[in-house]
Amino acid sequence: KKFEQTFPENFLWGGAIAACQSEGAFDLDGKGLTVADIAVKHDKTVPRSVRKLITAERLEKVLQETDDRKFPKRHGIDFYHRFKEDIAWCAEMGFKVFRFSIAWGRIFPNGDDAKANMKGLAFYDQVIAEVIKHGMEPLITINHFDMPMNLVTQYGGWKNRQLIDFYVTYAKTLFERYGEKVNYWIAFNEINGARFNVFYSTGIVKDDEATYLQDCYQAAHHQFVASALAKKALSKVSKEAMLGCMVAKFTTYPATCKPEDALEAQKNEQMDNYYFTDTVIRGEYPPYAARFWHENGIELQIFEEDEAVLKRYPADFLAFSYYMSSISAADKENFEETDGNLKNTLKNPHLKASEWGWQIDPIGLRYTLNDLYNRYSIPLFIVENGIGAEDVLEDGKIDDDYRIDYLSAHIKQIEEAIKDGVQLIGYTTWSAIDIVSSGTSEMAKRYGFIYVDQDDLGHGTLKRIPKKSFHWYKAVIAANGLGL
Ligand code: BG6
Repeated sequence: KKFEQTFPENFLWGGAIAACQSEGAFDLDGKGLTVADIAVKHDKTVPRSVRKLITAERLEKVLQETDDRKFPKRHGIDFYHRFKEDIAWCAEMGFKVFRFSIAWGRIFPNGDDAKANMKGLAFYDQVIAEVIKHGMEPLITINHFDMPMNLVTQYGGWKNRQLIDFYVTYAKTLFERYGEKVNYWIAFNEINGARFNVFYSTGIVKDDEATYLQDCYQAAHHQFVASALAKKALSKVSKEAMLGCMVAKFTTYPATCKPEDALEAQKNEQMDNYYFTDTVIRGEYPPYAARFWHENGIELQIFEEDEAVLKRYPADFLAFSYYMSSISAADKENFEETDGNLKNTLKNPHLKASEWGWQIDPIGLRYTLNDLYNRYSIPLFIVENGIGAEDVLEDGKIDDDYRIDYLSAHIKQIEEAIKDGVQLIGYTTWSAIDIVSSGTSEMAKRYGFIYVDQDDLGHGTLKRIPKKSFHWYKAVIAANGLGL
């Protein structure tokens, strides 16, 4: 293999969003209620344990709430009606790829419906046509934290094996309609959500302590099988289209050179990331899984046909989100905690953090790319990377130099990783345009190149205003890199 100096010619630069954080129109044109639609607005002062936990009691209360504005994801940034303008802004930046997700509840409002909702499909016909019209590759996440609520209340979420069939019917519907036009698919956003974002990833309500962990890992198993069956279905409609496995990559370093800390870091890497990626990419559970199940009283129901399908239909590429890194210590008491993507982490004294406490580590991205590529030898795709910040609109402008600094430091390290020999398909930043935050449902935590005039309470004109980073990213794409 020859030495690559920089980004390859066909490198896919772009940005990403998710349906449940952008579309709004939560009850229009036949869409069913989803788990995202019941996420209440919080902010960084509310502990993660409170934000994330959905018990049966809390669920009932939330379902009775009549004030829509308590649920910002129901309204998003009105992408549903403004997608043409938003996609045009992305094209203006020179995006080669646009990552978005399809809302399961628009296509199968209850998840178990006998027929697809044609109005939902008609909407995505238009979105995909618009993306392609502007010369961008659509990169579609089939399920991004928004399963239909009916699958939660009637089936208990992904711990129920029937969910595999419902998901595969949904995925097949998409492939049959778009398989020839769309080359890049992601089966599940952050498939390790079963470990970190249980309710929004799997629809499991925490009402039974005794079986909670068992249910979570059974749910993950069902998602692994669903992902393999989706790959099988996709290969029937297109030879070119690729299906990716995606994880939230939690890169961690040993807090000290103590062997106990190194072992702790290794264990965290295994259970936070590789348990999921090893299974979907290598097609079988890793050796350390059995001990984890044993020590946690987990007895998974795994059929022979599951093992066969996992082996036969592994994912084609590995996509991941990367925002931060953390450290691992055998004795956590000596370390301070800080917030992070989907989970709290220990503070690394060598790193600065975002306003939300997420530890910024560009070198960690190079480390991660090398680590993943050398482990799996399949193409990688960075599908989320960015900084959430409270942007200030002054004289009609947003000078988000901190975003430019964050992204350029990461792009520099990506280039280093390419020189290291890593095969990378593309890079979609999080996010293309300001959207509602996933973790806290705030509008104030902004990630985009395009400002959206809306506050946490849904007030504002929804006007789109390009930020300073918009012009910077446009130049990066035009130069196919930072030109360092
Ligand atoms: C990822 C999710 O975990 O992190 C996105 O896939 C999310 O949906 C992103 O928006 C950033 O998290 P947050 O909570 O800051 O929106």
